[in-house]
This record gives sequence, structure tokens and C-alpha cells, in this order.
Amino acid sequence: MPTARSRPYVILSAAMSIDGKIATRTGASRLSSKRDLARVHRLRGSADAILVGRNTVAQDDPMLTVRLARGKNPTRIVLDPRAAMPPSSRIGATANSIPTIVAVTETAPKSRAERLAKRGLEVIVCGRSRIDLGKLLSILARKGIRKLVVEGGGTTNWHFLAEDLADEILVTIAPFVVGGTDAVSLVGGRGFGKISHSFKLKQVERLGNEIVLRYVR
Ligand SMILES: NC(=O)c1ccc[n+]([C@@H]2O[C@H](COP(=O)([O-])OP(=O)(O)OC[C@H]3O[C@@H](n4cnc5c(N)ncnc54)[C@H](OP(=O)(O)O)[C@@H]3O)[C@@H](O)[C@H]2O)c1
Repeated sequence: MPTARSRPYVILSAAMSIDGKIATRTGASRLSSKRDLARVHRLRGSADAILVGRNTVAQDDPMLTVRLARGKNPTRIVLDPRAAMPPSSRIGATANSIPTIVAVTETAPKSRAERLAKRGLEVIVCGRSRIDLGKLLSILARKGIRKLVVEGGGTTNWHFLAEDLADEILVTIAPFVVGGTDAVSLVGGRGFGKISHSFKLKQVERLGNEIVLRYVR
């Protein structure tokens, strides 16, 4: 755990195919079984917040709520540098009843940020043209968010790893092969040049045809 709670404890959580993809080239991403989804919902129920990138909202239109387990809905956070997420998305449409934050940059048009705020989303401006994740995490810590689950996609996962802000990786290996150079991998972005960013394997759990691996930094 980071000392003095300067930032939340960050868990990257995802389901990937045997070959490390989190979605197909057409954007289909339902890789988890119902049993694994229930585990994910228990994890959500234990967290203070869940964070995703803008493309995941555009592609999956997720609710990011706890439905298959007990527990309260965590705060939802979307990284959306230019405030481009449609207010009519399922997250936007439910922001009045479930706490929701959209992190934008100074380049976000005011009108779009205001439209999201009117929907009930809390808009946090954090960085000039790129979202400053370190700054965002310290703002979240000040709001009392201690445990944050990052649910992708691959670009968002990369930014957290590149800045060494991921304390844990919880990944389900689902029994599918997806393939395709255009399919999104667990970690996208530029990637590391050296094999240096390591984790310790802490837990291996078999759930029927799936394996859940828990790694800590
Ligand atoms: N299987 C799974 O567990 C799982 C989970 C989640 C998502 N997915 C899949 O993953 C795919 C989406 O992944 P993706 O890599 O394309 O996109 P993503 O990570 O969902 O979103 C990426 C976008 O978020 C914004 N962003 C993320 N980090 C940022 C940072 N530090 N600073 C500024 N902006 C940041 C950027 O928006 P701008 O482009 O506006 O700059 C970036 O392009 C979807 O197909 C989804 O279905 C699968």
C-alpha cells in the first residue's frame, strides 16, 4: 500500500483471452463467464471507485455497477480528456443516482464539460492536454477514495503501468483465442522498451475453465 494514503491502492482488473486480448478487432469484449463476472462484481463492491477510459465507454456502454453481488456501487470515473463522452451513455444517464466523475483536461471544450456537469457528473480538470494521473489520484485520495479498480481498456492500463501507479493486477485468462493485430491487448500504449516492470505472483485461482491470476508490484 502507498504510504500515508497519498493515493488510492490501485488494482488493474481485466479478463483476457489466452493470447492476451481484452476485446476482438470488432470490439466484442465479453470474455468472462457468469461466475467470473460475479467475482468482478464482488471486487467492485469492495472498492471505493472504478475507473475506465473513454473508449471503453464508447465501445461497451457499461454501467460499472454492482449487480451480481452484494455491496454498494462505487464511484465511477471516466478518463475523457476532451469531455467527448455522450451524456446519453448509460453512465451519463445514471449519474444523478450513482456518483460519477469525469476527468478532463484543459483542452476540453467548456460547453461539453458543462453538458456533462448538467447530467450530474462531477467534472475534474486535471492536466493540460493529457490527464495527469498522479494529480488525479491525489484528488481522489482527498475525496476518501482508498481502493480504486481500473477496468481498462488497454490504453488506460498502459498509462497506469507506465507511471508505476498500479499496485496489483487481477487478470482472468478466459479460454478463447482472439488474435488480430488490431484487437486491444491487456496493455496497449507505447509499451516498455525493456523487460523490467515486474510483479510478484500472489494467487492463482481456477474457476472452471478460467484462471484468475493476482499479481502485486
Ligand atoms: N476484457 C476486459 O476486461 C475489458 C475491460 C475494459 C475494456 N475492454 C475493451 O477495451 C477496449 C477499449 O480499450 P482502448 O485501449 O481502446 O481504450 P480505453 O483505455 O478504454 O480508453 C482510452 C482513451 O481514454 C483516454 N485516456 C486514458 N488514459 C489517459 C490518460 N492518462 N490521459 C489522457 N487520456 C487518457 C484517452 O482518450 P482520448 O482518445 O480522448 O485522448 C484514450 O484514448 C474496448 O473494446 C473495450 O471493450 C475490455
